[in-house]
Amino acid sequence: MQSQKETKNCTCTCSCNDDTDYYALDEILAEYKDMQGNLIIILQKAQEIYGYLSREVIRHISQVTGYTQAKIYGVATFYTQFRLAPIGKNLIMLCQGTACHVNGSKDIEEAICSELNIQDGETTEDGLFTLNNVACLGCCSLAPVMMISSSEGEETYGKLTKDSVKEILKKIKAEAEK
Ligand code: FES
Repeated sequence: MQSQKETKNCTCTCSCNDDTDYYALDEILAEYKDMQGNLIIILQKAQEIYGYLSREVIRHISQVTGYTQAKIYGVATFYTQFRLAPIGKNLIMLCQGTACHVNGSKDIEEAICSELNIQDGETTEDGLFTLNNVACLGCCSLAPVMMISSSEGEETYGKLTKDSVKEILKKIKAEAEK
């Protein structure tokens, strides 16, 4: 008996050598293709599957739905929830909400940037960290706050100082090197 889940690669006629598995995405596209205002939900689902929206995935969505790639890029770059590049193993969500801002979140950002040598929205060269500034994380009494999300789950760190945030990052780096 044939496996239900078959690898289905790009069927476009260009010579892109795209080896992305589109099986799950094609199911989503079939489900939402005819729904009005479907582009955002399609992009959200695609990002859930692949972790980010690659050029290949955007091209595939364009071919199946008929939306131009320019339109898809327009939406994907307008909304901060969408990523056009892969994220690191640890996604740092640094709160820049009002309470955190008042309590020095910009200093914390500076400390993270200097420790990891990246800016907001960027990923370290070793793929270990991505930094994203976000709005209120809902635990303002702990301001300034960051949340780090990885395959192990999510951890919230509050009452951060420049020193404590550097220590936290060093500890994660050391764990990753073990
Ligand atoms: S403002 Fe940062 S958690 Fe609310």
